[in-house]
Amino acid sequence: MDLSGKVAIVTGSGQGLGLAYAEALAAAGAAVVVNDVNEDAAGKAASGIVERGGRAVAEVAAVGSTETAAALVERAVSEFGRLDVLVTNAGILRDKVLWNMTDDDYDAVIQVHLRGTFTCAREAVKHFRAQGEGGRLILAGSPAGQRGNFGQTNYAAAKAGIAAMARTWAMECAKAKVTVNAVIPNAATAMTETIPFLAPYVEAMNRGEPIPAVVRRAASFGTAADVAGLVVFLASDAAADITGQCIGIGGDRLSLWSHPAEIRSAFRDGGWDADAIADAFRATVGEQLETYGIPLPNIPTTRQDG
Ligand SMILES: NC(=O)c1ccc[n+]([C@@H]2O[C@H](COP(=O)([O-])OP(=O)(O)OC[C@H]3O[C@@H](n4cnc5c(N)ncnc54)[C@H](O)[C@@H]3O)[C@@H](O)[C@H]2O)c1
Repeated sequence: MDLSGKVAIVTGSGQGLGLAYAEALAAAGAAVVVNDVNEDAAGKAASGIVERGGRAVAEVAAVGSTETAAALVERAVSEFGRLDVLVTNAGILRDKVLWNMTDDDYDAVIQVHLRGTFTCAREAVKHFRAQGEGGRLILAGSPAGQRGNFGQTNYAAAKAGIAAMARTWAMECAKAKVTVNAVIPNAATAMTETIPFLAPYVEAMNRGEPIPAVVRRAASFGTAADVAGLVVFLASDAAADITGQCIGIGGDRLSLWSHPAEIRSAFRDGGWDADAIADAFRATVGEQLETYGIPLPNIPTTRQDG
């Protein structure tokens, strides 16, 4: 993959997946604006790329506001002369069950994920349209947004909204040759270290141990670097015709997520009242109800003692 001459912004790229994306884009030849709220992490990420011969600058700011979005695009243009790729990756968690979730928990997550994606994408697309050479929006979705997840009202809503924005923007941006896709990642990072059944693997990885092959396959769970290839591919000319998709990646698995669609329908002359629905529901559209939630992977144990 050769991204020489292209310029990318990666939000939240001081650590975790964003850092892996920024490093991989730079290794493929792109110049990168590294963004993070964490000044130290952003600076280290950018200088690490430069030390390895890449081109990068750090822009420390909290995504969410229009001011930050404008500053990021402005920085890409002032430093590197153009903008080709925006990866809206910055994210936080504030997990609680619905009845314990505060307004602040809700607003904080919506602000960074949903509003941050909206404001940054809007500024980038304005620039792509003025530049007249197309562009790439690569958004960060999540299995939680695709399926719902216990304790993640705010996060699941934001991520489902991001998938909906990818489909909407794919239509709106097609004429300008801007592709819009959502990556649905799964990787060992500080974020997944907070999930109890994944924590041991993240801790092992942090100790320098590899993630077991069975986990990479059965749980689709690997390193952040395992996810980065998809971002480089989507940023490249090879993916110029791929848009409006939610693409899953993690460990050894690459997948395409379906979009919600009507799977069964029934018709009744004059329409449906409650009694008619009660009579027909289980024999027609409700013959088999949909599942929801993220299925727990079945990771076979290799231990002899069970
Ligand atoms: N790790 C996974 O398996 C996984 C799964 C699904 C989705 N995601 C999504 O991928 C993205 C990255 O996740 P991660 O696992 O690398 O998390 P992480 O916590 O390791 O990294 C997130 C980064 O975003 C930065 N950040 C937070 N708020 C910010 C803001 N307002 N402005 C700029 N930067 C900000 C943080 O400082 C941090 O560096 C997130 O959008 C997350 O929801 C991750």
